[in-house]
Amino acid sequence: MRVLHVAAEIYPLIKTGGLADVVAALPPALAAQGADVRLLLPGLPAILDAVESPRQVIDIGPCFGALRVRLLLGRMPVTHLPVYVIDAPHLYRREGGPYQARDGSEWPDNQRRFALLGWVAAHLAAGDADAAWAPHVLHAHDWHAALCCAYIADHRPTAAASVYTVHNMAFQGLFPHDDWALLGLPSRFMAPQGLEFHGQLSFMKAGLKFADRVTTVSPSYAREIATHEFGCGLDGVIRGRAADVSGILNGIDDQVWNPATDAALHTRYDAERLEGKRACRRALQASLGLAQDDAALLVTVVSRLTWQKGLDLVLGALPALVQQGVQFAVQGTGEPALEAAFRAAQQAHPGRVHVHVGYDETRAHQLVAGADAIAVPSRFEPCGLTQMYGLRYGTVPLVRRVGGLADTVHDGITGLVFDAATADAFHACVQRAQALRGNEAAWQTVMRRGMVQDLSWAGPAQEYLALYAQARQARAESPRVALG
Ligand code: ADP
Ligand code: GLC
Repeated sequence: MRVLHVAAEIYPLIKTGGLADVVAALPPALAAQGADVRLLLPGLPAILDAVESPRQVIDIGPCFGALRVRLLLGRMPVTHLPVYVIDAPHLYRREGGPYQARDGSEWPDNQRRFALLGWVAAHLAAGDADAAWAPHVLHAHDWHAALCCAYIADHRPTAAASVYTVHNMAFQGLFPHDDWALLGLPSRFMAPQGLEFHGQLSFMKAGLKFADRVTTVSPSYAREIATHEFGCGLDGVIRGRAADVSGILNGIDDQVWNPATDAALHTRYDAERLEGKRACRRALQASLGLAQDDAALLVTVVSRLTWQKGLDLVLGALPALVQQGVQFAVQGTGEPALEAAFRAAQQAHPGRVHVHVGYDETRAHQLVAGADAIAVPSRFEPCGLTQMYGLRYGTVPLVRRVGGLADTVHDGITGLVFDAATADAFHACVQRAQALRGNEAAWQTVMRRGMVQDLSWAGPAQEYLALYAQARQARAESPRVALG
């Protein structure tokens, strides 16, 4: 089966969150199971610089406000998977992030930048961008890639089936109504049964309405997004496609996240050699200036600092927990108020709380390896990867019972789970962890259960292949045509 993955970010080239980890690891896992997998990415500088042996497939010419647009085909570093890259210097070759400038403001031409990504994907799917290769299944990730589903719906003869994966319902790609004129879609698409969303233009709706199958990254989140509480205004659309929506849990990349081989660690370890983890813990305490206190429960947080992640619960519970002997090692970036509050916590509790406001992959590995527990108190969490990294590294996850956290961490078995989104509930959860750690045998049992669990992409890749087969059948029987 030929499968094209379309996304805006990929680890280790460009990453704003877990999406990049998924886009790096799922395609090779599918290839390992026999699929003929390619990627389509925008030609951001970090991507263009890294792709190996790029050659031109087609000169597309001027479009979406760019004078020069070319489609290149090369290979990814490390996995060597074939990757199409859209070289559109005017739209993509600029310093900054994939969606935002350095100052945090959204790029003003994001509608054009990601319309182009979807439009090229649709042309590849239709077989008219590369005469040598066309996918059976187009798999689009998040709103950045969603518009391909509308372009395909506008071109009835496209045989390729489409799968759209929601990684986070909160990021929808909303633009002013009148921007639809930039997309090259017929005006009938700008209607409530199309891309219109309360007077605005929604990229995500293109995926939700027109993909043959819609997935999200955990079964619980698939149920949650059909509710008012979690649907971000699109729960009605999700309910309208109930039969076509499902959740497939993410895996983790065993090459990147494996304590037995991880080059970032002070000492490597596994479930049978836990003394290596103790060495990592001491090294971490020393490097962060935390007291060398073996009795203290050392809790880490590695996260975007946003409302979603519920880190205000940590801040609320932190002073009392520090009093009770808990240490915190926090790394994250995001909302300035949260960054400031964590910095203040470090100042208030020298030797007990360490905060690094920043983004650093190597340190993330060292934190996950050296801590006893990892806190993920999210208000909502489509899947969440860091709690799985915790499981793999014997770092007991302390999580809220929501979304993918509820699906990956089992209370008292592989981690500790709490319900209310309050500082008190988080506080009680950390206290349970302290008590459990007081019984070394019980704590190690919980650690080991997580460490030996199969969290690889092999299982999810199989589920995706089965879903692709369903999507192809659905497509063959009744292609989703636009707005009758
Ligand atoms: P989300 O995608 O919502 O941010 P995930 O848990 O799925 O949440 O993925 C987050 C990814 O980003 C993980 O790989 C995590 O290690 C990484 N990450 C988040 N913040 C940082 C940081 N400050 N430094 C290094 N890695 C980070
Ligand atoms: C999103 C979600 C996160 C998920 C990641 C990868 O960023 O917030 O929960 O793990 O995508 O699917």
